[in-house]
Amino acid sequence: MHTDLKSPELLTTAEQLRVRVAQARAAGRKIGLVPTMGALHAGHASLIDAARRECGLTVATIFVNPTQFGPNEDFSRYPRTLEGDLVLLARHGTDCVFVPTPDQIYPPGFETTVDVGSVAQPLEGTCRPGHFQGVATVVLKLFLLAQPDVAFFGRKDYQQSLVVGCLIRDFGLPIELRVCATIREPDGLALSSRNRYLSADERQRALALSRSLALAARLVREGTLDTATIERAMRAELTAAQLAIEYVALADPETLLPLAQIDRPAVALVAARLGKTRLIDNEPITPLKNGTRLRASLSDPRE
Ligand code: PAJ
Repeated sequence: MHTDLKSPELLTTAEQLRVRVAQARAAGRKIGLVPTMGALHAGHASLIDAARRECGLTVATIFVNPTQFGPNEDFSRYPRTLEGDLVLLARHGTDCVFVPTPDQIYPPGFETTVDVGSVAQPLEGTCRPGHFQGVATVVLKLFLLAQPDVAFFGRKDYQQSLVVGCLIRDFGLPIELRVCATIREPDGLALSSRNRYLSADERQRALALSRSLALAARLVREGTLDTATIERAMRAELTAAQLAIEYVALADPETLLPLAQIDRPAVALVAARLGKTRLIDNEPITPLKNGTRLRASLSDPRE
């Protein structure tokens, strides 16, 4: 945390953003972009910190993007906490924050959208039709407005980070993508703007998400490589806490295609509902090399 509490420069129009970024670039500074929907927490702050370490100008954006919410999702009640967000951004030394009105992003007559390929199809893509089209479109727009050298995203939204990687690669955007570690509460719950929807009881039960991921990692460490067995155990963990499961998956970390056996690096992903609140989480799963696993799990006095 930084002691100087200089407020970030508040930019509300695309033009203001363009001018500010052009100035910094002319001064030879690297531009780091941290796109958010606000209701900022320590997970967002970690992305700001990463941008500050690497870039001479750190630009955060706050925009609750309507096009990535489905008709029955929480767009209208999504938390909007601009004052607190500005304090957090100031504490972390953010240079500028772009808080556009919807017409700055989607001017009247806006009709173009971006459809990302196969990596956007499974999991979130199936549960939230149109979600990644909305994400890819707004992220491309923000990239074009801010022209960053480096863009910072969280692994917490694992599939989203793959979608953004695909967008950058396919359009040949001159932007480096940094995917930063998931920040968690001490008890394991991944920080999320949606955690504030949870009642005390739901907050407790939400721990089943990270527990199910830890369970998957432990099973693999102990030698269970059959995906169906691991997913069954994860489902049992979630169901025991009365979470309504949307998906449980062990998938290839790049394509998100399902894996039958965890005989190479994988990612475990979960999505579940507690009441009206939908939470997601994920964890990389790395199988130990043959032999290491046995030695690690059996205490053989000869070794
Ligand atoms: P939002 O949910 O506000 O998240 C903004 C960024 O913060 C994303 O890159 C997300 O992965 C990251 N983040 C969220 N929780 C985190 C945690 N616990 N640890 C580390 N990083 C975390 O994701 C979006 O907004 C939107 O889809 C957006 C990309 C802004 C497009 O509208």
